[in-house]
Amino acid sequence: MAKLNTTVLSLCVVLAFLAGQSAAGRYYADKVQDKVRKEVEKAIAYNPSVGPALVRLVFHDCWVNGCDGSVLLDKTPTDGTNTEKKAVNNIGLAGFEVIDTIKQKVGGSASCADILVFAGRDAADILSGGKIFYTLTGGRKDGVSSSASAADATLPSSTFDFSQLQDNFGAASHGFTVEELVVLSGAHSIGVAHLSSYQDRLAGADVTPIDSSYQAALIKVTPPGLLTQGQDPTVPNNARDASSAFQKAAAYDPVKLGVNPTRGVLDNSYYHNTLENKVLFKSDWVLRTDSFAAGKLEEYKNNATEWNSDFADAMVKLSNLPALQGKEIRKSCRFTNQQYY
Ligand code: HEM
Repeated sequence: MAKLNTTVLSLCVVLAFLAGQSAAGRYYADKVQDKVRKEVEKAIAYNPSVGPALVRLVFHDCWVNGCDGSVLLDKTPTDGTNTEKKAVNNIGLAGFEVIDTIKQKVGGSASCADILVFAGRDAADILSGGKIFYTLTGGRKDGVSSSASAADATLPSSTFDFSQLQDNFGAASHGFTVEELVVLSGAHSIGVAHLSSYQDRLAGADVTPIDSSYQAALIKVTPPGLLTQGQDPTVPNNARDASSAFQKAAAYDPVKLGVNPTRGVLDNSYYHNTLENKVLFKSDWVLRTDSFAAGKLEEYKNNATEWNSDFADAMVKLSNLPALQGKEIRKSCRFTNQQYY
């Protein structure tokens, strides 16, 4: 059933992509950015689930020691194969093959860190039907270290409460406000999540408030017991992207909620869902527990244009987090130059 949900999601993202023609065919004067663009368009058309994955990669790379492509490394001289990809909080990261393909096209003319933020930007543009767009410049250097434990110490967990999220975003190395936390969390209008990332919302003493129909629908498609059998299936982050049967069981009617029912679109639907408690992660729900953040949830629910614009601004800030250990332009995005041959 979970697989079915993912399939429905993929088909729907294709439809959303087609509906978003205004974003397709954007050209850049900069040759590298133009090549990235073309490959991202092809990749999303071929496999729509890479769109959300590319947007998420920007967060997961830039949050850990700045935008240095460290999340792309398979091994390094200092960390061996225990790189960021192995971090618990990096579960489900994808899109690496797209970055590899682009790297083959651009060679030494761009760092992997640049390619990654350009690709995430283009994915956001395409998935929003051209409503979320921002300009970026190149010049980032690739890092030569990548540690799973450092990533887990730096990336927020889906079980964080509000003060943990606030501290994480506000940390000196990040410098993001609560408003930006609320803005960027809206990225959860797209993509998928594994059962292990929201199991705490399904059963047990620690369950945070969640709509009971939505919870029952989740339990039906992904019973928590599957985890003990070694299975960790996925569901769409957004009930809007689930099958009609799921939506019925979850009493989720996008039109009644005022949400654009087109599946797979990066938009402000996350805010409608969160305020209905029909949202996957504890870290999403807890935004309701702070009065300022809750006010922002309402604001973005009621003003899609404002969210598009604020999201673009926050993505620029994210994509420009300085690479603290950036040193080289890698030959392969998976290996440091020292380990390339
Ligand atoms: C606020 C703190 C955040 C937490 C705790 C969080 C947590 C998560 C988790 C647990 C998943 C599902 C992983 C899985 O089970 O496979 C996920 C998916 C995702 N997140 Fe976040 N996230 C946060 C912020 C962000 C930000 C800032 C962005 C982007 C700007 C983002 C973009 C995404 C996307 C697009 C997906 C779906 C990825 C896919 O389908 O491949 N998240 N997030």
